[in-house]
Amino acid sequence: MDCFQYREGALWTEEVAATTLAEQYGTPLYVYSQDTLLQHYERIHTAFAALDPMICYAVKSCSNIHICRLFAERGSGFDVVSGGELYRVLQAGADPARVVFAGVGKTEREIEEALAAGIGRFNAESVSELEQVNGIATRMGRAAHVDLRVNPDVDAKTHAYTTTGRKENKFGVAIEQAPSVFDRFRDSVGLKLRGIHLHIGSPVNDVQSYVASIERGLALIDTLRHGGHPIDTLDIGGGFGAFYEGHEAPSAQDYANVIVPLLRDRGLRIIMEPGRSITANAGLLLTRVLHVKQAGTRRFVIVDAAMTELIRPALYGAYHFVWPAVAAQHVPETRAAQQPFADLVASDVVGPVCESGDFLAKERGLPPGIEAGDLIAVFSAGAYAMAMASQYNSRPRPAEVLVDGQTSRVIRRRESYADLIATELDANAAVTSATAS
Ligand code: LLP
Repeated sequence: MDCFQYREGALWTEEVAATTLAEQYGTPLYVYSQDTLLQHYERIHTAFAALDPMICYAVKSCSNIHICRLFAERGSGFDVVSGGELYRVLQAGADPARVVFAGVGKTEREIEEALAAGIGRFNAESVSELEQVNGIATRMGRAAHVDLRVNPDVDAKTHAYTTTGRKENKFGVAIEQAPSVFDRFRDSVGLKLRGIHLHIGSPVNDVQSYVASIERGLALIDTLRHGGHPIDTLDIGGGFGAFYEGHEAPSAQDYANVIVPLLRDRGLRIIMEPGRSITANAGLLLTRVLHVKQAGTRRFVIVDAAMTELIRPALYGAYHFVWPAVAAQHVPETRAAQQPFADLVASDVVGPVCESGDFLAKERGLPPGIEAGDLIAVFSAGAYAMAMASQYNSRPRPAEVLVDGQTSRVIRRRESYADLIATELDANAAVTSATAS
């Protein structure tokens, strides 16, 4: 579900036309629908209500502070993976007790900051990290609440780069080693190791992969409890899918239908870390056509957004549906990659960056007659889109706008040329003064 609709051939975000947004704020421009963000959050909340889970929004999917604040105001927790994300959510008004801190490598400073802030839980991924957290917490006179991330060796049937639960992946501790790890830290002063964390990949459209990993996790919890470990928490991670080509992802209710029966009445506090399923379909990228160029049978539509704004196609070969924001033709019934060209023209939508991998869409049927100045929308761009943007080729990063009904507001200003060199000039000043002293 989303609040981006074509009305008489023109794209709207809630009650604001895409053309108005592009004129008002310029392009390339990220546009989010507040209603869609909140509805997606609520759907997960409702579908999993029987488990009363702590929902920890995965900040990495779309980290804008104003978006984090929307969720904080609704009582959401947060899944963070760096000191920067922790800082961000605390600034957004997050309750520290509802923050979980994941990641295979945390620095001493990050751990100290998290303990000082009083975060809810650490998700630790190795014996070495448990020793590190134990040492720091003991020194600070604290006891960190920790869940051990276990690697269940389950195939999430997703892209190799975003599969995380196979034994060859860097994440977690092999599930068969987990009991000895729990035994080793049983009496640690600085740790309360009371739960396990699972996250098998993203996006995971195969609900059975969750069943497999959760069943393995529950078997481990039984073993640990038998061994006298008072396990009280299971964090099932994130990974729920979103719509890119059509309606390929299960709904929150579909996931809940298989997951809730497994976890009900287990005496466990459940934590969930959804990101993409909330944000992906709540955002789009608006970009202006700079040139159209025919090369043999290939039409290149050169736009002002690039891999710098949206790296997913270049990095994962990811599919994002693209369509003009104003078009005489109807939007195709199917947004799938295989859409027939019929009266459309085979086109590559590419950016200005100096790499052949810089494309947003390849071999797509787009309406004839696209010309410079036209506005193109790149859909399903709310997750891992702006969050992965860069300044490569010294391109200032774009603005972000949040639409709420008939109103829109800038939630991140467009970067300036001065922003591009600001930290470099600061560095120069720092070195000069260091030399002087
Ligand atoms: N929890 C952990 C421990 C994670 O590593 C992730 C995502 C999530 C939760 C949230 O997963 P989600 O619900 O958003 O699927 N850049 C890639 C996706 C990387 C996902 C990284 N971890 C992409 O553009 O597809």
